[in-house]
Amino acid sequence: RDPELDASYEANELAAKFYHYLLNNSAQGQEAKAYLIERGLNGRLIDEFTIGFAPESWDTLSRFLQSRGYEPELLEKAGLLSAKNDGSGHVDRFRARIMFPIRAKDGKICGFAGRVMDDSKPKYLNTPETKLFAKSKLLYQLHSARAVFRKKRSAVLFEGYMDVIKAWSAGVKNGIAAMGTALTDDHAALLSREVDEVILCYDGDDAGQAAAMKSIPILEKVGLKALIAILPKGMDPDEHITRFGAETFIREVMEHPVSVTKFKLLYSRRNHTLLGEEGRRNYVMEAVGIVAELDSRTEQEIYLKELSREFELSLESLKQDCHGIWSERQKSRPDRDKNDISWNNGRNET
Ligand code: GTP
Ligand code: MN
Ligand code: MN
Ligand code: MN
Ligand code: MN
Repeated sequence: RDPELDASYEANELAAKFYHYLLNNSAQGQEAKAYLIERGLNGRLIDEFTIGFAPESWDTLSRFLQSRGYEPELLEKAGLLSAKNDGSGHVDRFRARIMFPIRAKDGKICGFAGRVMDDSKPKYLNTPETKLFAKSKLLYQLHSARAVFRKKRSAVLFEGYMDVIKAWSAGVKNGIAAMGTALTDDHAALLSREVDEVILCYDGDDAGQAAAMKSIPILEKVGLKALIAILPKGMDPDEHITRFGAETFIREVMEHPVSVTKFKLLYSRRNHTLLGEEGRRNYVMEAVGIVAELDSRTEQEIYLKELSREFELSLESLKQDCHGIWSERQKSRPDRDKNDISWNNGRNET
């Protein structure tokens, strides 16, 4: 046992309760609550996620926690206070922000994400990296999603806190999010112990789609199946739910995730103009390369047939090119996994 660590957890727990109390019971908190309700949350959700409010003040939290016997030095280590530059004491780290408590895997509060209510920067401020709060290993809402993981063997990975909360209210109880950082190998390892597949439900903008492209290999490396839920251009899940409602989100976004191959094809398509011959040719060649990543010939054929139809090309030549790329890749691949054997059935290539 580490008494300092225990006290840090306690301080974070107490801070969350205090912030939550202030959201519901202070004058400044009323404005914050109105902001949240305007964004489509309600009192029940605010309680469920213990959302709070850190007032515009240098010492409200500091005074409260010190009155409960916590020393400023400990509170700094717990990520709640910042040391002043001139060394003359401490100030509240979070000021004038909506507070989202972050829980560790076991449900203990280990830090916060604090959002401003206007356009100022940074939009979100997190607890600094501390003994309790290691961003690369934390996933928002993992502690509560785990119950569903066991039943469904499936997780839904969002970009933001608001997406997780709104999707939860729409019925997606296995939603999680990274702390505003890219998905890490540690995250993937954590997930692979509890689920078999991860549905990526990132924002429908360029950044979100690029992030999905980066997350796919990280998930696949640990043996997780990745699927991608597609949002309309420029929209994130939170906005989709606010605009179209829970039912539509479930029906139109969550129930139709696409395969990794399909997603990569869509992604590549966005980067080519299919109106000109040059663009069409480049897209088709890139598409064949994407399909060649599949080890099942049947699966390859499904996608190649679509290409052949759309671009009026013979299936035979597409298959030949695809197989050519596939075999080239095999040569530079040191350890072939088991899946490849089926590919070679009845054939003699090495
Ligand atoms: P809302 O505007 O509240 O709906 O946030 P969002 O989740 O839609 O934000 P966005 O899509 O811009 O970013 C996705 C996630 O990245 C956020 O939920 C945060 O975790 C993180 N993020 C965004 N902006 C910042 C920032 O300024 N600082 C930090 N540390 N993280 C950020
Ligand atoms: Mn597994
Ligand atoms: Mn975004
Ligand atoms: Mn977003
Ligand atoms: Mn959003």
